[in-house]
Amino acid sequence: MTGSLTIVGLGPGAPELMTPAASQALAQATDLVGYETYVNRVPEREGQKRHISDNREELMRARDALELAETGARVAIVSSGDPGVFAMAAAVYEAIEDGEPAWRQIEITVIPGISAMLAAAARVGAPLGHDFCVISLSDNLKPWELVVKRLEAAAAGDFVIALYNPASKARPWQLRHALDLISQHRPGKTPVIFAQAVSRPEERIEVLPLEEAHGFPTDMRTLVMIGSSATRTLQTAQGTIVYTPRHAELADS
Ligand SMILES: C[S@@+](CC[C@H](N)C(=O)[O-])C[C@H]1O[C@@H](n2cnc3c(N)ncnc32)[C@H](O)[C@@H]1O
Repeated sequence: MTGSLTIVGLGPGAPELMTPAASQALAQATDLVGYETYVNRVPEREGQKRHISDNREELMRARDALELAETGARVAIVSSGDPGVFAMAAAVYEAIEDGEPAWRQIEITVIPGISAMLAAAARVGAPLGHDFCVISLSDNLKPWELVVKRLEAAAAGDFVIALYNPASKARPWQLRHALDLISQHRPGKTPVIFAQAVSRPEERIEVLPLEEAHGFPTDMRTLVMIGSSATRTLQTAQGTIVYTPRHAELADS
């Protein structure tokens, strides 16, 4: 009997930012598959098996989950944020496309989650209030030349730019390069948001003008958002708010 595979978005970290649909899918699973940090965010349940894998082994993890489902298990595979944003949902479909024909018979469900950029945006106001684009700065799965090409197009198009995977120990230089490139198209006062570990106890959020943003310490748990030419800061009793109005003009670039 073929089982099922549910790809579950856990949200950015705080339990209250996990959707009821995600909690329900996790409660119904016989087997939980995922990177240790994310599996540990799911309460343990009697009788539910946990299958932990390394962070960089997404395709292998997807294949393992499909094999389990093929044997009749109700498998939940977990991702942080939304599973369709730089995460496990695409990895599962890559595995199905190149994998066993029987995997196409497995019922797959994707449960959305609150992605890091949405949680980060909500913390500072409404920086994504008008057109924006999302780019992963990691060159693990694409050449750096393609990252640069997309950054240039986004900068020239005057989009608000959300950067996932901005830096890691192995890639400390890429964010500086990206900010240099964007600085050629944006005023130095453009707000840049550094949102680290959003909704977790160690959360830290800083807003800096683009001209001071180079060199700000950033890690793999940080989401960076660079405003468009229309994005502005607003001082309120709650501190500095960042927002992008819903209307836009043609800007010089
Ligand atoms: C492989 S991507 C996964 C994105 C995830 N699927 C999502 O929708 O948020 C990992 C990147 O997401 C961002 N990220 C994930 N959780 C975050 C959080 N709680 N706070 C800030 N950034 C986060 C960071 O840029 C990190 O390098």
